[in-house]
Amino acid sequence: MKAMQVLSLTLLSVLAASAQLLKFGKCPKPAVQANFDASQYIGKWYEIMKLPTRFQKGECGTATYSLKSPGVIGVLNSELLDDGTINSIVGSAKVKNPSEPAKLEVSFFEGTPPGPYWVLSSDYEGHSLVYGCADYGLFRIELSWILSREPTLSEETVEELHGILSSIGLDVNKMVPTNQNETYCAAMNQ
Ligand SMILES: *[C@@H]1O[C@H](CO)[C@@H](O)[C@H](O)[C@H]1NC(C)=O
Repeated sequence: MKAMQVLSLTLLSVLAASAQLLKFGKCPKPAVQANFDASQYIGKWYEIMKLPTRFQKGECGTATYSLKSPGVIGVLNSELLDDGTINSIVGSAKVKNPSEPAKLEVSFFEGTPPGPYWVLSSDYEGHSLVYGCADYGLFRIELSWILSREPTLSEETVEELHGILSSIGLDVNKMVPTNQNETYCAAMNQ
């Protein structure tokens, strides 16, 4: 009985801590970018909008991808924190199944499980819509980012990408814009 209470308390606090991310129900199975070509995807992307996560606390977010070896992409994520310092994190992305090249698995620390990074839509030169979802029993945890090659992205494209997210059951009102103000983010380019 006692063990049960401790277990449910632990579960409750885990649920509460992840409340932003944890949703009831299983992950959708969205269509991904057809014929995804990692070699065109590499380079720098600016984060335009995201579902809030606990591991991103700053603004001016960028993601820089590089080809490390066949099927392996280097990941460098940077953001500007409130105190003016730049927070960077290095990871790598791998294609799990060569027949689904748009479905990547990203890991940041050795020993931690990789997370799904699915490119739902990208034209390589303008925008990328990234989505990840993991099932936890009856619940799921979702991540999503809208990226752009420029610090801005047209309202029209954002609406189009929101349409894709809505169609897989994601509440786009939960997405928050990333500050990419050139003046505010100037430290990121030094
Ligand atoms: C960008 O940030 C600067 C200062 O951080 C501010 O003065 C300016 O109004 C901002 N520009 C826009 C378009 O929000």
